[in-house]
This record gives sequence, C-alpha cells and structure tokens, in this order.
Amino acid sequence: MQLSTFGDKFTANSGIVELMDDINTAFNENPDMLFLGGGNPGRIPEMEALFQRRLNELNNDAQERFNLLGLYQSTKGEKTFRAAVAALLQSQFGWALNADNIAISNGSQAAFFVLFNLFAGPTRSGKHRTLHFPMAPEYIGYSDAGLSANTFSATRPEIARLGDHLFKYHVNFDQLAIDDTIAALCVSRPTNPTGNVLTDREINQLDQLARAHDIPFIIDGAYGLPFPGIIFNAAQPHWNDNTILILSLSKLGLPGVRTGIIVANEDVINAYGNASTVINLAGGNLGPALSKPWFTSGDILRYGQQYVQPFYQRSAQKAVDAFSAALGDLPYYIHKPEGAIFLWLWFEGLPISSQTLYQRLKQRGVLVIPGHNFFPGLKAGWQHTQECIRVSYAQEESVVQAGIKIIAQEVRTAYAG
Ligand SMILES: Cc1ncc(COP(=O)(O)O)c(C=O)c1O
Repeated sequence: MQLSTFGDKFTANSGIVELMDDINTAFNENPDMLFLGGGNPGRIPEMEALFQRRLNELNNDAQERFNLLGLYQSTKGEKTFRAAVAALLQSQFGWALNADNIAISNGSQAAFFVLFNLFAGPTRSGKHRTLHFPMAPEYIGYSDAGLSANTFSATRPEIARLGDHLFKYHVNFDQLAIDDTIAALCVSRPTNPTGNVLTDREINQLDQLARAHDIPFIIDGAYGLPFPGIIFNAAQPHWNDNTILILSLSKLGLPGVRTGIIVANEDVINAYGNASTVINLAGGNLGPALSKPWFTSGDILRYGQQYVQPFYQRSAQKAVDAFSAALGDLPYYIHKPEGAIFLWLWFEGLPISSQTLYQRLKQRGVLVIPGHNFFPGLKAGWQHTQECIRVSYAQEESVVQAGIKIIAQEVRTAYAG
C-alpha cells in the first residue's frame, strides 16, 4: 500500500493510536480488567432515565422520528436547535449570540480536528504557526490531531504545592511568550487529565493575551461550563467574540450520540461549516433531537448541577481518600481535584517511568493512562512528564477502590526499588 504523507501520518502506529489499541487489546483479553483508563463517563441513573424518556418520545412521534432518521440537516446543525442553544446561553450569561454563532459537530473531537487545522500549520505567506497550549499537561486527544508536523506548542506550568499531598498547576505567564508563530491558544477547562480548573483570572489574562495578539482563544468545555458542569469550585463560564467555546453532550452520559457544540463568532462558524461539509456532509441528528427541549427549558444546566456534578464530586472525594489511605507517606501528590472525571497523580522521583508503571499495572489487571502522553507540543526534557499517571474515578466504586489498592502496591514496590 503506497501512502501519501497524510496516509503515513494518520496510519502511523504511534502515540494515542498505539495506546488505545493496547488498552482495547488488554480489555478484550481480560474482561475483568479494572478499567480506570478511558474517558467513559459514569452511569448516573437519573440521567439514564431522562435519556430513556426522550428516546421514547422521539420514537412515538412519527414526525419527530422522521426528522431524526430521514433528513440531512445543515452541516452546522438544525436551525431551531442552534437557536435554542444560543437563546439559553444569551439569557443565562448575557453573551451576544444567535443561531449563526452555533454549529454542531459529530463529537467535539471532530470539531477540534477541523478548528486546529483551520488555524495552525503552514500559512499562505510561507510561515508555520502552532496551536499553543498555555498550560501543559493537556488532553491526549489533541496530540495527533495536526495535519502537519509540529502543529502544537506548549508552555510548562508552575507547580504550587498545597500541603497534604495536594498540588495545583498554574499558567506560568512569565514563560508564556506569544509571538507571530502562534496561531491560537487552547485550554481544556476543567483540564483532562489533571482536573485543574483554570481560575477566572487566568482565563481573563489568557483572553487578553489572545486579543492583544489577534489570535483566537479556544476553550474546551467538554467537562465544564456551562454544562455538564463537572466543576467542584466556583468558576465562571467564559465567552466573547474572540473565544471559541467547544461543548459536548458526551460527559452528560451521551458519548455514543457524538454531539459537539461550537460557540463562536460568525466567521469562525462559517469557516467551520464549510470545512465540515466537505468532511461530514451533515451532522448527526440524534444529539440535537434528544437535547433540544433541555435547551429550550434550561434544564440542561439544572441536570448538570443536580445529578452530574454531585455524582463526580462524591466519586472524586472517595478516590482521594482511598489513595491517601493506600499511599501513606510515600512521596506522592494528587492534583487538587477541581473538576472532570480523573485524578492526576504525581510520584516525585519515581525510579521507573510512567510507561513502565502502566505496563506493570496492566499485568496486574489495572488500566490507567501513563502521564507522558499528556504533554502535546511540549519540548522534551522535563522529568515530571515521566512521573505522573491519570486515573479515572467514573466507574463503579468497587472497581475504583480495587484498582487504587493495586496502584498503591505497585508504586510502593517501585519506590522500594
Ligand atoms: C478534554 C476533552 N475534550 C474533548 C473530548 C472529546 O469528546 P467528544 O468527542 O466525545 O465530544 C474529550 C473526550 O474524552 C475530552 O476529554
């Protein structure tokens, strides 16, 4: 098979693809594997009941069923859905939005792929610009999403030790040098993998920097604001016409419907819509059909606060307590859990790499994600990237607790040499 450079890049067995294959193989070979690795959301009975009710309503109404199954909608998404999203965000947060500021995508991952490549890469004037992550670690799913080599760059964070085995990353504004080689800034908030929630101050400062350099500021709100709202401290949703806010229905409990929602100025939405037509022809109808009444009523915000956020906050606390009990006085640090569905553990001075720890844990029947995968765009040479793992606490409590015990045993063995 003779491939193009695109073919070479996107079929290469590297990075995230290799890791996901490895995880799937391990899972298929050992279905009892304690699966603390993936990004699957937890099962929340109240949310599942809502999904079932909406599916029944759609199924029982012939017109709705036809609209769902029998029509290509516009690539940007069906207009009344986009209008409902815009109206809710405008009424709740005062953002100047209408349907032309909203587009849907087949999962937010697909939106990132298109948007990153709309901005970063070679330009017609012969320059090469990068998509910059102002605070690594960042989401593993970004890492191979560039069409060109060197699509990403990143800045190391500051580390604040908070006592009691907790720490928190902050944006290191002293090191964040923005010049004309940077095409856009991007942060996930809350951050996957760390559970960090960038403070309102950090967000405002990044916003100002982006404006000053006339580049967009992309905020990945897959776990965050305003929905599903998996945030454990006070933080404000952020949008203005220089911000591209990307939301998703996945972490409400609907990863299978593949619906992302892009909120941006009209130029960005039109550019996205044209590119997406080439790739997708049309967006899927299920997510918008299921969730439209929740936007019209505003209930989507309430469901997050009432059902989704408390579920994860409880799970996070239990996971932290279990790690504290199991790791005792080992030199470990947990990133302060401020949101999302993961704990990020840092084993300072760990004598083995995070990859070796991952492999040993896999042999013991526990899947986590080794931390070095979460530094897309960062220059090599920082030992910290080898000392961390990501552990999901979204699965059943018994699974999480059993996994944590084994992780602690392996870490203790590794420190003991
Ligand atoms: C930070 C972050 N952004 C985006 C995505 C993509 O989500 P989806 O494509 O399901 O909307 C994920 C998935 O886990 C994620 O963790």
